[in-house]
Amino acid sequence: MLNPAAFTGKHALITGGMGFIGSNLALALVELGAHVTILDAMLPGYGGNLFNIAPIRDHARVTINFADIRDFHALNYLVKGQDYIFHLAGQVDHILSQTDPFPDIDINIKGTAMLMEACKQHNPAAVVIKAGTRGQYGPATRLPVDEEAPTHPRGIYEISLLTAEKLMQVYHSIHGIRSVLLRLTNIYGERAQMQHPRYGVVNWFVRQAIDDGTIQVFGDGQILRDFLYVGDCVEAILLCAATEAAYGEVLNVGIDRPTNFLELTETLIQVAGSGRWAFAPFSPERKAQEPGDFYSDIGKIRRLVGWQPRTGLAAGLRRTVDFYRQHKAHYW
Ligand SMILES: NC(=O)c1ccc[n+]([C@@H]2O[C@H](COP(=O)([O-])OP(=O)(O)OC[C@H]3O[C@@H](n4cnc5c(N)ncnc54)[C@H](O)[C@@H]3O)[C@@H](O)[C@H]2O)c1
Repeated sequence: MLNPAAFTGKHALITGGMGFIGSNLALALVELGAHVTILDAMLPGYGGNLFNIAPIRDHARVTINFADIRDFHALNYLVKGQDYIFHLAGQVDHILSQTDPFPDIDINIKGTAMLMEACKQHNPAAVVIKAGTRGQYGPATRLPVDEEAPTHPRGIYEISLLTAEKLMQVYHSIHGIRSVLLRLTNIYGERAQMQHPRYGVVNWFVRQAIDDGTIQVFGDGQILRDFLYVGDCVEAILLCAATEAAYGEVLNVGIDRPTNFLELTETLIQVAGSGRWAFAPFSPERKAQEPGDFYSDIGKIRRLVGWQPRTGLAAGLRRTVDFYRQHKAHYW
């Protein structure tokens, strides 16, 4: 169970705090009584959206700073006095990383190095929580995938996040800057970008269903994934920040029960009451990155921090569909 005392009156910096996961985290932290600084560069094509933080935008404990994590001077200033730093800013477009590797290298690797260096110089007492990806493993060698599994990432995006993780491990062990290294599965829910299908597959399906369109299910729809609702993901991030046993650890954040894409799609259409689906062949870019069946072993995070996903697929999709139906104008 999350103890609010871990956050009440504490200071938290969220890089990428205008984006999907970052903004949901910001809302939760304000609710818990924390002082929240949001850093976001609002780069086009990503999830940064002012509407995401509408409920807390004018709150006295919220500071917004439009800065880039590659701006070392801004970082040096912003890390000061923070108890927790949630590092969610990143190049997240998997498709882009196949044609241009430099944004991954620049934002995900260099940006993370700058953040850690700023902490080393100005706030070595901060705890830094990083959102990495299940893609760091590459194709599963056995299922479910635990943290001891080998890492053979298939794309530059995934390599960049694995490198960022390793950088943070060095800062943890050599410079004593405590970090928690999370590997997130596919997250879906409110406040994600809904403009394009380049990342965030479940949310893209949600858009097609709401628009009463045709959801394209690649291949035979039998590939297994663990789709996690964003509210559960935020709870995992907060619990890890508040639990010393998690510091220095690599932890999967996923859900026990895998679902195939067809099951996902049919559940969504039922929940939305609109949309249809059709099989479609994989595009070459999708095929290149598709690791096949993947679902996370979450035994370690359950054991160390007591986190457990609470939202089933139909319930999570219901909240997601309701949110975008209500606020479509801000996302479409
Ligand atoms: N959503 C998922 O399913 C998922 C899964 C695995 C890992 N992750 C990781 O979680 C993190 C957050 O992802 P998200 O889904 O919320 O994405 P998002 O696109 O919604 O949010 C990312 C935010 O980072 C900001 N940003 C990007 N580059 C920046 C820079 N150089 N300086 C400052 N801000 C910058 C963007 O403007 C955006 O607001 C990413 O690191 C991503 O790799 C997400």
